[in-house]
Amino acid sequence: MSEASDVDFGPLTALVGEWSGGEGVDIAPEPDGEETNPYAETITYSAVGGVTNAESQNLAAIHYRQIVRRKSDGAVFHDETGYWMWDNDTHTVMHSLVIPRAVCVLAGGIYGGETDGDGRAIINVAASLDDEKWKIIQSPFMQENASTTAFNHTIVVGNGRLSYRETTMLDIYGKTFEHTDQNELTLA
Ligand code: HEM
Repeated sequence: MSEASDVDFGPLTALVGEWSGGEGVDIAPEPDGEETNPYAETITYSAVGGVTNAESQNLAAIHYRQIVRRKSDGAVFHDETGYWMWDNDTHTVMHSLVIPRAVCVLAGGIYGGETDGDGRAIINVAASLDDEKWKIIQSPFMQENASTTAFNHTIVVGNGRLSYRETTMLDIYGKTFEHTDQNELTLA
């Protein structure tokens, strides 16, 4: 591993720091339909440093921890951690995530320099059960009862602002459900 100060984090550079946002919207599955949960959250991104794989691939890695509270009662109802990684040689962004439902995702995408009108980086990663490269791993119970079949996550970051929208496709309660989360955060 190499020190964070020696590493180029590419489009992920602007992520590092403590973010908070109070206007999140979650749409989650219910047996009889869906529920909409307004939420507030903090996400802390910490620069880890450089990682070399097989003496040939160089990744710049950032660890994050996301804590999400339901606005109606302040209770934590989503807790997520993982890494964002940047491979400058192939312009690949990777996002690994773990949630305490026994679900893990390794999503990936190519960053080709996309920006919005304010010059903020637009970064997209995706994974699905049947993708050859970017996959989802989940417990036997979740495979049977609440299977995550696809994940798509877009973040827009820069100028002290971070917006994201993620879609998690679920097979649950005998139907296919589009579980979505979105929020806008600012640097603390
Ligand atoms: C801000 C992000 C997220 C929030 C606030 C959130 C919230 C929720 C809520 C409220 C439910 C309904 C069940 C319950 O009340 O606990 C749920 C279900 C579920 N979520 Fe999320 N979620 C988020 C992100 C994710 C992500 C990233 C994944 C996986 C990639 C995921 C996977 C699931 C699964 C598999 C279920 C079905 C389990 C069940 O309903 O019993 N969620 N989520």
